[in-house]
Amino acid sequence: MDLNKLPRVSLAHLPTPVEELPRLSRELGGPRLLVKRDDQTGLAMGGNKTRKLEFLVAEALAQGADTVVTAGAAQSNHCRQTAAAAARVGLACALVLGGDPPPSPGGNLLLDQLLGAQIYWTGPHRRGEQLAEIADELRAAGRQPYLIPYGGSNAVGATGYVTAMRELSEQLSAQRLRVDRIVVASSSGGTQAGLVVGARAAGFGGQIVGIAIDKGEAGDEPYPVHLARLANATAARVGLDASFAPDDFVVNQDYLGGGYGVVGELEREAIRLAARLEGLLLDPVYTGRAMGGLIDMIRRGVVGSNETVLFRHTGGTPALFAYADTLV
Ligand SMILES: Cc1ncc(COP(=O)(O)O)c(C=O)c1O
Repeated sequence: MDLNKLPRVSLAHLPTPVEELPRLSRELGGPRLLVKRDDQTGLAMGGNKTRKLEFLVAEALAQGADTVVTAGAAQSNHCRQTAAAAARVGLACALVLGGDPPPSPGGNLLLDQLLGAQIYWTGPHRRGEQLAEIADELRAAGRQPYLIPYGGSNAVGATGYVTAMRELSEQLSAQRLRVDRIVVASSSGGTQAGLVVGARAAGFGGQIVGIAIDKGEAGDEPYPVHLARLANATAARVGLDASFAPDDFVVNQDYLGGGYGVVGELEREAIRLAARLEGLLLDPVYTGRAMGGLIDMIRRGVVGSNETVLFRHTGGTPALFAYADTLV
């Protein structure tokens, strides 16, 4: 496996820092808590998608595309980072967003517009159901679109998290840290699948726990099955001789609360604690829920007080501004 040979454009500030969260850890009575700051990847307010986009945009350029097209919720962090990545390399960007246009744009949607993306509203569909149709429209208008799936979660995008795991392993050995568990928000799967592939490649022995954010639609395959398929495709792409089964993925689906993007007391408390004890801003949809899950697992003793846990901050902070009413 030679990750350095894969086509990639540099978009992110790497490596992102690993920091301690001593005051949050003390508040919870242990364990030792670390945070990996992928909210600080640097591109237009950062986040996990920038790592995926380094590989996706490289493929778009190699294919001679003039437009990238992707999809998400109205407050999608993935869409905002895609719009920024496209702007950085001189491609147009079309975003296929669920919902209807709000009276005034806030959070990520404001940034999408500032970044020059062309927006298509698709009512109840936020997971790219109309991507192919819109790509056809663009082709009919003489454009050459490159399609990025919902969340950037295919083998090309997930490669960004194989390299992220290598980066983390190097940081942990340089800092002589041993991590028992990594906790990460998991939704379209590219982040968790890439991390698990990267962990196998790097010989990381800790557990990787995905906190599920979205329960998916009726008829979707079970999430661990999806993760295993994505991990196998990713391993094949990066040339790692390894295979993955659904059992290789730890997914906690206990924190789905009121559904995707619905803020409850779990997220509110986690956001408040991280902000007030560590000056660390989480987001209302993903990292607030994942940190809320971690806090609950610590309080219930599922995570032991003698462990070292690394929380992967995957970004999303701009969405805070769009959720102001539900947060304070
Ligand atoms: C802030 C944030 N965290 C986590 C995720 C989940 O990552 P993935 O879709 O790769 O599972 C997303 C996806 O949109 C996100 O925006």
